[in-house]
Amino acid sequence: MLGPRKGLEAAAPPGGGLRKTLGWPHLIALGVGAIVGTGIYTLTGVGAERAGPAVILAFAIAGAVCACAALAYAELATMIPAAGSAYTFTYAAIGETFAWIVGWALIIEYSLVCSTVAVGWSGYLVGWLQSAGLELPTALLSGPHAGGLLNLPAVLVALAVMGLLIAGTRESATLNIVLVAIKLVALTIFVVFALPAFDADNLTPFMPYGFGSQTIDGQSKGVMAAAAIVFFAFYGFDTVATSAEEAKNPTRDLKIGIVGSMIACTSIYMVIALAAVGAMPFRDLANSPEPLALVLRSVGQVTAAQGIALAAVVALPSVILVFMYGQSRVFLAMARDGLLPQGLAKLSDRGAPVRITLLSGLVSAAIAGFFPIDELAELANAGTLVAFIAVAVCMMVLRRTAPDAPRLFRCPAPTLVGTLAILGCLYLFASLPATTQGRFAIATVIGLAIYLAYGRRNSRLRVG
Ligand code: ALA
Repeated sequence: MLGPRKGLEAAAPPGGGLRKTLGWPHLIALGVGAIVGTGIYTLTGVGAERAGPAVILAFAIAGAVCACAALAYAELATMIPAAGSAYTFTYAAIGETFAWIVGWALIIEYSLVCSTVAVGWSGYLVGWLQSAGLELPTALLSGPHAGGLLNLPAVLVALAVMGLLIAGTRESATLNIVLVAIKLVALTIFVVFALPAFDADNLTPFMPYGFGSQTIDGQSKGVMAAAAIVFFAFYGFDTVATSAEEAKNPTRDLKIGIVGSMIACTSIYMVIALAAVGAMPFRDLANSPEPLALVLRSVGQVTAAQGIALAAVVALPSVILVFMYGQSRVFLAMARDGLLPQGLAKLSDRGAPVRITLLSGLVSAAIAGFFPIDELAELANAGTLVAFIAVAVCMMVLRRTAPDAPRLFRCPAPTLVGTLAILGCLYLFASLPATTQGRFAIATVIGLAIYLAYGRRNSRLRVG
């Protein structure tokens, strides 16, 4: 039932694959580029709606769970530095069937992250243009859930990033470094202008909807409900692991890339959340498509608000870029293993998997056009949580089944950290709305049907 397992050596990629072009600065930039994005720029508002000022606490909880998962990731990524990350780890540690489930969860995660960030980007673009006095055709600014026809800006940005990736990884990763800098400078400016407006009254009541996730008036509320959505803001370091095969010195570069980008981002969020809910009543923040710009406008910093919106517009596509890149690499790993059609894995002359990139880009763009940001983020989180659980399980399994395999990064206190990662992810998953859990279950069943109809029959390990 578990299916065949790959030997640890076999999990390493065949020679002559992707080019080794990325150094650790590229990887940290890939990590921070993927981590800081719509989660902090937009979902801070949704989090505040769910938890009140205690959204700060929600960020801390989600960050702690992510940190445990990141440590497990770092160990496996340096042990099995092949494209595919959690999917490849599971193939080696547990077996093909679970590897498929994890690979499918990653595909859901990556596609929906691209869509979520595209919708977040659209919110800032529209806010920026409207504040500049432009009249826009409202039917093309949001999906049917908000009374529109289609979120056209979200579709267009996803397609544009797809084009960038097809043009070649190297250039994209370098451009990414510049965009990361813009994003971080804008967040710094936000804190500088929002903190002086800090009013302690805005922090009471601190936890208006309690701690555990509960449904109030048809909406998920509570600190854990907020943590289950702002969790989105923390992941992305796993995309560093998916590019292991292209790292010049995977062992050292991945360790620095994953752990470094995680620490950098976690420290930023608490400050931003505090500055945001301290500057205005949380109810006014809720559900804004551009909450950070809204905060700055409400404290009279109109120019800074336009600045942060512009920074989001310029820089958020870097998140889409990293996840679309990661998506294509997971696909590639699964296709190379025969679980998805091999034709999809064909590389262009420049070493880019053009067909897979086209497919993932088109799917993410289409989804971004029609769905609300919170539902997309929650489903992306569900996929990510499953992948994180798998990584923590694999790390602990391999400590037993392959205790002597070389590990250049060892997760500290592996049983404790692994267990905390698993329990934390399960708790976050349980705190997601029931509709999200149901959708994820349906997506998983569809994935398993594809596996039984195609992957199982064409698996390289099974066919030989
Ligand atoms: N962590 C990424 C973001 O917040 C996915 O946009």
